[in-house]
Order: sequence, then C-alpha cells, then structure tokens
Amino acid sequence: MTQPLIRQILDYENRADPYPLYAKLRETPVLHDGHGTYVVSTYWEILSLLHDPRVSSDRRKRTVQDIYGMTDDGGDGGEGATLPPPFLRLDPPEHDRLRTVTNRSFGPPHSPRRVLEMRGELEAVVSGLIDGIEDTGRIDLVEQFSYPFPVTAICRLLGVPREDEARFHTWADTLAASLDPMPGEDPTERNQRTRDAQLQLGGYLAGLIEERRSRPGDDMLSALAAGSGADDTLSTMEAITTAALLLIAGHETTVNLITNGMLTLLRNPEVLKRLRDDPLLAPRIVEELLRYEPPVQLMPNRTAVADIDIGGLTIPSGAALWLVPGSGNRDPRRFADPDRFDPDREDIEHLGFGSGIHICFGAPLARQETELALIHLARRLHNPRLLEDPPPYRSNAVLRGPRHLYLGCDDIR
Ligand code: HEM
Repeated sequence: MTQPLIRQILDYENRADPYPLYAKLRETPVLHDGHGTYVVSTYWEILSLLHDPRVSSDRRKRTVQDIYGMTDDGGDGGEGATLPPPFLRLDPPEHDRLRTVTNRSFGPPHSPRRVLEMRGELEAVVSGLIDGIEDTGRIDLVEQFSYPFPVTAICRLLGVPREDEARFHTWADTLAASLDPMPGEDPTERNQRTRDAQLQLGGYLAGLIEERRSRPGDDMLSALAAGSGADDTLSTMEAITTAALLLIAGHETTVNLITNGMLTLLRNPEVLKRLRDDPLLAPRIVEELLRYEPPVQLMPNRTAVADIDIGGLTIPSGAALWLVPGSGNRDPRRFADPDRFDPDREDIEHLGFGSGIHICFGAPLARQETELALIHLARRLHNPRLLEDPPPYRSNAVLRGPRHLYLGCDDIR
C-alpha cells in the first residue's frame, strides 16, 4: 500500500532523491495529514509563513500531539533537553533580544568583521585537513574533511582554546549523532548520551564564560559573556545556550552543504572545471547549492498560534506546521528549470537559510567555509571521481546529507 505523502518524506527510501516526491507534494501546496499536521511545500506559501507573526517557533505553543516522532531533535532544546530553548526556538520579544545581543558580538550584519578576519585562519585549516587526507584509493570526504572542518571553525569563532578543540569535537559528534538515529538504536540510550553530552558541553562552556568575564579576549565568547549594559547582558545560562546553539546549528548543516557541494560538482564536471580555473565562481556555486541541495530540507517545528487561511485551507490555531524548503526551492512557479544545477542563474532567492526573523544567523560564516572548502578541494584533488553514486545518506530527513562520500583521485597536491 502507498504510504501517505507525509510519511514518505520521512521514509529513508526517498532520502537519496526526495525531489520527485516533492513534485507530487506541490500538487497540494498545503496538505493536511488528517491529524494535526499541515505540510507546506510551495515557495510562496513557505515564504509567506516564514514572515507571518501568527507562526511560532516555540514548540511549547503546540496543542496537537506529534505522531511522527519529530519532537526530540536533540541538542537544541527539544524534549528532555538539559538546556533551555535557544533563540532558534523562541518567539519575539525573547528571540529578538537574544539575537540582537548575539549579533553585536558577531560584528555588523552581512559582512561581520569576525568572519572576514577569520578567512586566512580558515584557509589554513582547510589546507591542513587536505594535507592530512590519507589517499588509500578510497577517500571518505565526510570523515576526512567535511565533518571536522565546521566544528573547528565554530571553535575558532567562539575562541575555544586549541587544546580543548578535541573535546568539543566529541560533544559535537554526539549531538550530531542524536539528530541521526541509526536503525535499531535504542532511543532511551541515545537520549541519555545526548543529555550527557549537553551537560558536559554546558559545564565546559560555563567555566569558559566565567573565565572570559574576568579575563576577556577578542573572541565571540568574551563578547557574549560581557554585554554592555542592563538590557544587553546575557545571563550565564543564556550565554551557554547561545554558544551551544552556534555549535549545533553551524555543524551538521555546513557538513552537509560541503558534502552536497562536492557531490554536485562531481556530477557536473564542467562546473567543477570552471571552479578550478576561476575561484571567483565559488560564491555563485554556493548560492545555487543552497537552492538545489539545501542541507535544511524540512522545518517541522512551526506552530500556528491563530487560524491562518492559506492555499485554500484554514490552518487552525495550535496546529503543527511542516515547511519544506527543499521543495520550495524546486518550485517551478518560482524558479525556471528548477531541477537543473545552474550557478549562472540570475534570480536565486532560495530558502536554504530560511527567511524572516529566524533567517540563518551564521550565513556569512557558512558561505565562507563552503566557498573555501570547494575552491581548495577543486584545486588540490586531481581527477577526482565518485566511487559510489548515490552515496549512502544519513537517516535524518530534516538535515539531509550523505553519511559518507567515497572518492578516488589521481593525486592530492
Ligand atoms: C538558523 C540553515 C550554518 C547559526 C538557520 C535556519 C536555517 C539555517 C534554514 C532557519 C531555521 C528556522 O527558521 O527554523 C543553515 C545552513 C547552514 C547554516 C544551511 C550551513 C550551510 C550556520 C552556522 C551558524 C548558524 C555556521 C553559526 C555560526 C544559526 C542560528 C540560527 C540559524 C543561530 C537561528 C536564527 C534565529 O532563530 O534567529 N540556519 N545554517 N547556522 N542558524 Fe544556520
């Protein structure tokens, strides 16, 4: 029997190529599952809801029961979490206060000083990781490159001492694994591991924040710890939660964009060649990737807090909303020839970083990391080829990306 479309989104069978399923979903822009969940799959409707103050990101406002097991998304304030919800999961005014204070410690919007200053340092991290790739004839790009890079970048952004980076990687790995349950894994054990990692990370960050309060440095954690006035100061708990949010939100997402990026370039060798010859093409490639293969495919955490008329339906107050940016980005009513990867596209306002008040805070850093990664991989891997296509995917339907990406190449120089 065919499963209802909403179940098919979660079905692992559709992970490698969810796009034909999304085309079917878009025939009904707003789909009611018959219980309390509404799935929105078309570009304009998703965009409108992301800007709608009647849509909440605070799970505590939901009145329907989740029947799809999407309540615990690990590490970010989900059910059973040890830290309070971070601003990703809060509404105004709390969201705006926390985001504004955090923004100040990041630098001016669009070209944050900290991100620009980090470019040389990140380039050195990329080079070091590529130098360290062991070419045994079968390189796993995820393990050897995409996975370690973003955690190192967040550590440098926050100002985590180098000698502690390895511990940070371990916590980040556990929290990321909590988003990606393995078949047959015991959920109670997994939740316990997640909670332990959250507690250890929280304890570690608390210590570091106290230290930076008394001896500030020129890093983001010092800025988060300090604030500059009554309204501007984060409590220690808020600073911990925010630092943990930056780690979690900036980890798996960036891993997947880099990996999806190499996969897409290897499937489009003429674009890979153009990038090798002209690194200035990188920003366009990254933007088109965020449309074509966005790491955040599904946002299952929104709740209607008033009745909303949209797409010919009324979504009742308290209902759960699943927005599907992975589908909106391929909506032919918005993008011409949407299933074609085309970095020369002029019009590319994708939903890959979301939109509205929760639009990705780390976008400048994510763009810079992915550009540097793709430029250097394109230049240094000679005659790279995919050894398995499609690659094995992670189970996660929200943050979608390959678990491994096996490559062969003639040389790494
Ligand atoms: C929010 C995607 C990297 C920090 C978001 C949202 C998306 C997104 C779609 C909106 C979520 C929503 O509306 O519910 C991505 C992608 C990334 C990436 C695809 C990498 C390619 C990063 C990085 C950081 C970061 C590197 C940290 C430095 C955040 C934060 C939020 C957020 C803090 C919450 C913003 C808010 O609620 O106001 N991201 N992100 N992200 N992202 Fe990213």
